[in-house]
Formats: sequence, structure tokens, C-alpha cells
Amino acid sequence: MSSDSRTYRAAIFGLGAISRAHLRGYNAPENATRVQVIAGADISNEARDRFGADTGGASTYADYRELLERERPDVVSICTWPPFHPEMVEAAAAAGVRGILCEKPMAVDLAGCDRMLAAAEGAGAILVVGHQRRLQPKFTRARALMDEGAIGTPELLCGIAAGDLLTDGTHTVDALRFFAGDAPVEWVMGTVDLRPREVRQEHVGRSGFAAQERPFTVRYGHAVESGAIAMLQFAGGPRATLELGICARPGYQRFTLYGTDGAIAVSGDRVVEGEPLLKVRRRGSSGWEVVQDVEESNGFAREVSLLLDSIEHGTPHPLSGRSARMTHEVLMAVFESGRRPARVELPLDVAHSPLEDLLGRQEAGHAAQGRGQTQEVAKA
Ligand SMILES: NC(=O)c1ccc[n+]([C@@H]2O[C@H](COP(=O)([O-])OP(=O)(O)OC[C@H]3O[C@@H](n4cnc5c(N)ncnc54)[C@H](O)[C@@H]3O)[C@@H](O)[C@H]2O)c1
Repeated sequence: MSSDSRTYRAAIFGLGAISRAHLRGYNAPENATRVQVIAGADISNEARDRFGADTGGASTYADYRELLERERPDVVSICTWPPFHPEMVEAAAAAGVRGILCEKPMAVDLAGCDRMLAAAEGAGAILVVGHQRRLQPKFTRARALMDEGAIGTPELLCGIAAGDLLTDGTHTVDALRFFAGDAPVEWVMGTVDLRPREVRQEHVGRSGFAAQERPFTVRYGHAVESGAIAMLQFAGGPRATLELGICARPGYQRFTLYGTDGAIAVSGDRVVEGEPLLKVRRRGSSGWEVVQDVEESNGFAREVSLLLDSIEHGTPHPLSGRSARMTHEVLMAVFESGRRPARVELPLDVAHSPLEDLLGRQEAGHAAQGRGQTQEVAKA
């Protein structure tokens, strides 16, 4: 902490698209008296220059380790691609950072998640992962309606997202877990479509799609599937379904929550005109009721203020790294279910990414197919 006892010194690693939401979160009125963004690190000159301009002159570094050594920040946001998250959390924890706000997905495999948890817990640092929907009003109101019994006993929770399991499904699964009251997941059954993904031109060069690769098998530096379907069983509670990518109905982070006596519909991120953010068909009522006074809010400012509260008072953070690991386990279990293929009981004891195994098997299959064709040609 600085000599001003109200002010924590924050730094950001990775100064791309999502770092700007973090910066706005730190600068939000509820946080600006407690924390100041004093430095950022990025390997790109352009990103560093833009960050310098946006912050009015915070220090910039090409090497995040040098930043840690020289600036000794109290809080760090990690806004780089997932393969970098474990090493950056380890370095921040070793440098004495007290609060680490790491972007989702937590890592690319459970081994990475466990490295991050071991580093943070070993150093007494608080690790938070950016599943910010848990803090957004339409999600918290939906959960409150369920807790009040508005739809009876929850039976089936349906989550939809265009996108891939790691990048987008991590939000979907995390929200499904939130709606299920964070009950443990007993088993997962699912599968993935590994055919390369076609992406709209306007998403290339941003949203983690590298311009040189078309169609896409890699996003944000890790392998991705083009579609996924899964079912989850929560212990003593509802089931959930997951529709992603080319297997998803339209919508992004759109949910319908069915209970024995009613249902709740949570709009996706891109709301069509006239669509309410939240509506409920209550127990005993035959029609939908729009839930009033639900505002859109992105949750980043709240994520930061709760992190500072956790540092000061030891209060648990609702987006804890431990919770994010459970979400990650479900994502890995969907891949593993497709790999076996079988229903996968949790806990999952596969530390590496089963998606990599699936892709390896596919490549081996293609190679074998290629050899077959060569033999056919030779015979002809
Ligand atoms: N919470 C959300 O809703 C949300 C939304 C978008 C993205 N994300 C996540 O945030 C992460 C970043 O996504 P983005 O869209 O901002 O990516 P981006 O490509 O726009 O930015 C990443 C930045 O990291 C920099 N970088 C790469 N290697 C580095 C290194 N070794 N040291 C320092 N900087 C380095 C790159 O130069 C780039 O500027 C991803 O994990 C993504 O899934 C989260």
C-alpha cells in the first residue's frame, strides 16, 4: 500500500481489449478513492502507448516481471491470453501481490488451475477469476427469485452461448453453477465438434482470432472446438444443459431456468429491441411477468471493490479461484466425456487438457486416412 492509506497500487498485465474494462473498474467512483492504476505491462508498443494515454501517464513495461520488481503493486489484473495465466499468477504471488484479478478462462487445463491456486494460497494472496456475471443484477435477481421459490423446485437450467467452451462456455457453466446454488456437479455428459470454425470477418484480428488462420482451430492461444453440447447433474438438485458454438440456439449467455411450477428467462448480452432483461412465469401464474428495475451493469467495478474488501477484511470473494476451478473442471469434463466417450463422474482426475488428446487423435486419424488413400492410389 502507498503512504496514502486509502490507496492500493494496481497494475495490469496485458493491455488489450479487456484491460480497458479493468481500467474502468479501478477508476469507477466506488473504487477511485481506494485504488490507483500505476503501471501496465504488454509486449506490444502500441498497446503500451494507448494505455499510457488512457491512464494519463501510468508507467509501462514490456516485461511484466520487471514491473513487479520495480513497482511492487498491491493488486494485479491479468488480462493476457489463458496460456500465460499460470506463470503470471505465480510471479505475482511470489512478488507479494495481495490481490490477483485474473481473466477467464482460468487456464487451459486443470494442472494450470492448480499451479495458480497453489501459488496464491501459498503466498496468502487472494485470487479472483473474471466470471463477472455472478455480480450482474439480472443474474443476482434471477437467483433471488429461485431462492424465493418463484418457480418451485429448480429442475432444468439451460445455458446458450455462441462461442467455444474455454472462452465463452466458462461464463455459461459458471452462471449455471451460480443458478444451481453452487451445488457440486456429480457428472457431465457431452461431446464436441472438432471441425474448424468459420468466423465472421469482423471478428478476425480481435476476439482472439489470429488473422492468418482461416478457418479457425485456435483462439486466444489455445485449441478450440466449433460446437459443444453437454448435460450436467448437480448433486441433489437440477440438471443443466449447455449449447455452444455451432450447436447453440441464437444468443450469447442466454438462460432459461425451469422449475416444477414456473420458469425464468435471462436475456443474452445482446438484447433484441423490446426484449426484457429478465422475466418470470411464477408459480400459480400462467403468463410471463417482466421483472422491473433490473439494470445492465458489467460487474468489473464490483469485482474490484469486493477484491479490496477481501484484502482488508478477509471476506470471501464470490469469484474466487477455488470456485473458478470447479467451473474449469466441468469444461474439461465435457472434453473428457467426448474423448472416452462416456458419462464422466466428478472429481475429474485428468490434469492435462482432454481437448488436446482429442485433437491428437483426430490428426492421427487424418494421417491414417491419408495413408489409406496413398495405398488406394498405389493399388490403382
Ligand atoms: N471477462 C470477460 O467478459 C472477458 C471478455 C473478453 C476477454 N476476456 C478474456 O481476457 C483475456 C484477454 O482477452 P483480450 O480480448 O483482452 O485479448 P487481447 O489480445 O486484446 O489482449 C491481450 C494482450 O496481452 C498482450 N500480451 C501477450 N503476451 C504478453 C506478455 N507475455 N506480457 C504482457 N502482455 C502480453 C498482447 O500484446 C495483448 O495486448 C482472455 O483470456 C479472454 O478470454 C474476458
